[in-house]
Amino acid sequence: MTTEAVIPDHVPAERVVRFDFRNDERIRQDPYGYIASLKDAPDIFFSPDLGGYWIVRPSEAIEEVFTDHERFTATSLAIPKRDDTVVLIPNNFDPPRHTAYRKAMANNLFSPRALATIHPDTRDFTLQLFDEFEPGRCEFVSEFAYKLPIDIFLKLMGADLALRDQCLSWIKGIFRGRNLEETNKGFTEAYAWVTDWLTEQLADPEKNRGAMFQALVRMKVDGKKPEFDDLRSMTLMLFSGGLDTITSQMTHIMRFLAESPSHRQYLLDHPERIPVALEEMLRRFGISFIGRAAAKDQVFHGVTMKEGDVVCAGTPIAGLDADRWDNPLEVDFERAGRRRVKHLGFGAGPHLCIGAYLARTQLTVMLEELLPRMPNLRIAEGATIENQAGATMMLKSLPLEWDVTG
Ligand code: HEM
Repeated sequence: MTTEAVIPDHVPAERVVRFDFRNDERIRQDPYGYIASLKDAPDIFFSPDLGGYWIVRPSEAIEEVFTDHERFTATSLAIPKRDDTVVLIPNNFDPPRHTAYRKAMANNLFSPRALATIHPDTRDFTLQLFDEFEPGRCEFVSEFAYKLPIDIFLKLMGADLALRDQCLSWIKGIFRGRNLEETNKGFTEAYAWVTDWLTEQLADPEKNRGAMFQALVRMKVDGKKPEFDDLRSMTLMLFSGGLDTITSQMTHIMRFLAESPSHRQYLLDHPERIPVALEEMLRRFGISFIGRAAAKDQVFHGVTMKEGDVVCAGTPIAGLDADRWDNPLEVDFERAGRRRVKHLGFGAGPHLCIGAYLARTQLTVMLEELLPRMPNLRIAEGATIENQAGATMMLKSLPLEWDVTG
């Protein structure tokens, strides 16, 4: 349920507009249509929902919120604000503290060595999952979009693939929680599991063959081996940042392609253009509502904010900014010619998504492998498609059908 806050004194009445990205009926029925309709709201407005928070609309100003840590601190990321007992490294740190961890993670966990087998692994898992579908049909969310990112993550960490269902229930708790209690429960359970799992692996790291886990054990931050608490925080960060996000992204992209034969045909005719086309879909179907807290009392684009105010940088809002994009709701694979569109789907600045390569790989391979195997792809007749809101937007279910030939 939404928690309505008292409007603080520094918020002028003309800037109050309700926007509840977790519970509003319109987010459930037509999320992107609803977000596009915000064009009539003030550039920066305050919603009393979700504990009370600022929503920034222009894509350039959203980029500033992502980038300018002196004004907007990442020590508070959740909306509604949570007393974060669990610190996520590196996301919860501001520079300069952030910088050393980010560098160490990029150079180790996301190095070419750690991700050396990511392409063949993703292709293998994708084909295995396709083979498990009934001929000509699947429920895409539960049978593919949830499974692929978890399988890849478990493989990279050298964890047992049988843990997939267990992981799924924690992720659902963390990301789909309808209130603070549910998200806290998801975090607490995932935290307990990561603690036990990591303790066990570190007792005998030689046994674990996961490339990303091995990189975690090898890594040094500012020349020193991280303490257990830091290793746990980074693992939890990968777990919470790298799974539900890809799943969410996959659901919106596949729904769109199932409903648009011409875009599908374009990708089938030009598979080499999939990486460029993907960027346009990442713009059009942003999924994340990221929080920051105002780091000090300030005036931001003419709006008075007080230290501690919650500020939302929404990637779906940035992607549909009509002042930035012509016909923002339209998917135009050649919007930027043959170049990739520059969107904020992975954020911007110091916290720009560190897993973007992993995400792009999974999304690209999904399109390359699934589309040619799904002729005449369509949404099953009579299916009701609903968005499930949360920190990221994901479709609840997506029953797909295609023709079976031969
Ligand atoms: C389509 C999939 C994905 C999307 C849309 C996405 C989106 C984002 C966004 C918007 C941010 C910026 C957060 C901020 O500014 O506070 C971010 C950061 C981050 N993402 Fe992703 N992400 C995706 C996949 C992944 C994957 C696969 C991983 C890792 C396995 C990952 C790990 C992270 C981490 C660790 C950060 C924090 C980086 C830092 O603070 O320096 N993400 N992501």
